[in-house]
Amino acid sequence: MHKILFVFVVGARKINAKHRAMETMRKRSLNGLNKRTTAETELNPTDLLNLPKDESLQNVYQSNSAVGTKIEKMRQTYKGTPIFDAVVAIEIDKNGKLTGDASGMFVEGIQEDLPSAEPLITEEEALQIALKSENDVKFRRKLTNVKTEHYIYLGDKERAHSIYYVRYFISESKTPRRQAFIIDTKSGQILRKWNDLQTASCGARTYKAYGGNEKMGKIKYGETPYCLEPTIVGNMCFLENEFVRVIDMESTRDDSKNDTAKFECSKGYDDEVNGAYSPAIDAFFYGTQVGKMFREWFGSTPLREKVIIRVHYGSNMENAFWDGETTSFGDGQSTFYPLTSADVVGHEIGHGVTEQASGLVYHGESGGLNEAFSDILGEATEKYFKNNDMKVGDDIKKEGIFRDFRDPEIDGSSVGHVEDFHDSMDPHYSSGVYRRVFFVMIIQKGISIKQAVKVLLQANRVYWRERSGFEDAGCGVIKASYDVGQNPTPYVRALDDVGVTACDASHHIRAVETNVTYSDLTVSNEVKPLFRFNSPNWADVVTVRAASGSGDVKITLRVGTWQDDEVAREDLKIIEEGYNLVNIDRIANEVIYIEFSLEGENEYNDVSISVGYTCLEGYSGNDMQEYRLDCQS
Ligand SMILES: *[C@@H]1O[C@H](CO)[C@@H](O)[C@H](O)[C@H]1NC(C)=O
Ligand SMILES: *[C@@H]1O[C@H](CO)[C@@H](O)[C@H](O)[C@H]1NC(C)=O
Ligand SMILES: [Zn+2]
Repeated sequence: MHKILFVFVVGARKINAKHRAMETMRKRSLNGLNKRTTAETELNPTDLLNLPKDESLQNVYQSNSAVGTKIEKMRQTYKGTPIFDAVVAIEIDKNGKLTGDASGMFVEGIQEDLPSAEPLITEEEALQIALKSENDVKFRRKLTNVKTEHYIYLGDKERAHSIYYVRYFISESKTPRRQAFIIDTKSGQILRKWNDLQTASCGARTYKAYGGNEKMGKIKYGETPYCLEPTIVGNMCFLENEFVRVIDMESTRDDSKNDTAKFECSKGYDDEVNGAYSPAIDAFFYGTQVGKMFREWFGSTPLREKVIIRVHYGSNMENAFWDGETTSFGDGQSTFYPLTSADVVGHEIGHGVTEQASGLVYHGESGGLNEAFSDILGEATEKYFKNNDMKVGDDIKKEGIFRDFRDPEIDGSSVGHVEDFHDSMDPHYSSGVYRRVFFVMIIQKGISIKQAVKVLLQANRVYWRERSGFEDAGCGVIKASYDVGQNPTPYVRALDDVGVTACDASHHIRAVETNVTYSDLTVSNEVKPLFRFNSPNWADVVTVRAASGSGDVKITLRVGTWQDDEVAREDLKIIEEGYNLVNIDRIANEVIYIEFSLEGENEYNDVSISVGYTCLEGYSGNDMQEYRLDCQS
């Protein structure tokens, strides 16, 4: 029965131990398979995979989804020994029940190959075997990062072995190396070995690479923050990693070009042009930063596919673009240096993000929004690894101002207020409206770039549509700020600055019912979930509780209506603050906004909250019936 939750792809070879791949089957996307019985949901993961008694699943990582579920990453073990490459991710609900979403890899039939997992050689013996095979015995005392881990591993013909996974790093030899070995713990045989230094770290530069241009100066890659992460195979450096792949168009527009740009690591990439030292390396570096920023700051990837960056596109092209599948960068001529700066790379990838998120059309107000979002992502890219300048393309514009955030009109064409917008305006100019909004958010309201872009990305992915205009996009921003646990007020103000009146999104704020516990909140000094509570006419003392196994949670109570003009100029009035439990007297018939937050750097994901109240004694009003029902039952 439970097998309907997964698809098993059985390996083609007839072997003792079989790899089986489970494909994700998300219940919502599967017709006919989304009716799960209670019996299935009661199963624990071990039962679900039908594991024999010597095997189990070990929790290795857990993350909370935005929908209130948990994703458990589990590793399969055999007689207590972890199995290499055998991990599954399983989604469970709040009560620990499986939701039916699972994916990953597990192994079966180990017992037949390997009755015992006990090693016959020691870890040190394994390390000696490894060193001998690389002629590294003489470096024994100079090794760093030595790791020896015991695993079950599927070798040739998918036979199960008990192995040590041995790794060490040597900086003494001619080029720094990180060696890795799979060594059978019974025979001492090396089943596999490789150089593990796929991405050169800043400390161990194994490539020669420069970037930048005459205006911004020469960048030497390999020094923080300019760590390049190419894929290194032998002595070749490929401009590809998990985030991006660079294609060198060699001054053509030949769409059939598809080879990954590569160079001899020790020699460097020789593509100096128009005052820039290496547009290919720069584009690769900045594209990688965009990918890392998305993973670290937003927990996602920019695009559904790996980002493709085409450099040296066309001849003397003074432009860069997103074509629906790839980003392309010209080498510029008189106006621009090659257009491979951090903000322009972020900008073009941003168009891909928008296309796959809201699909904002590229004219009218939505066009201006589309362009602004890209400019904003360009700033975020700069900020992520270094510092941003609140200017677009300043590093690559030979002279004069390109586009500005503080004062959009300074370029002579952009507008910074909705009143100056015309429907036929080029999106690069109407983008000034939201560029200015972003400036106010960051510089005047003190929102961090990470948090602001998180909100705009959520708005773009969830609330914006193909033809969203300035006003309804603003409404999406307000809702998004709430979703990610931020105070909407500074966003309301920033929109107000350019003449966008924020919608009343107060109904979007989750209302709490009395004496109901809400759990699994995420709280930090930047993620501050907000609730609202309508106190009845007969409320005497209202009590707000917050609890977390991790520590104290701050509670802030406010009153007022933040969409109201009067209040929008001031923060909602704080009426009470405290930790874990806050009481407030005589607060009948009010909408109370309740915010939960932390001080310091922690983030708690286990916060639960509830709100209750006592009834006024001797209350009288024209709602006595409700009063009695509520208070005297
Ligand atoms: C381009 O190269 C990639 C990987 O190198 C490959 O997956 C893709 O199919 C190629 N595309 C075309 C159109 O040949
Ligand atoms: C909420 O619970 C408290 C104690 O648990 C109780 O005294 C109070 O009457 C309850 N309030 C309502 C409105 O149910
Ligand atoms: Zn653009």
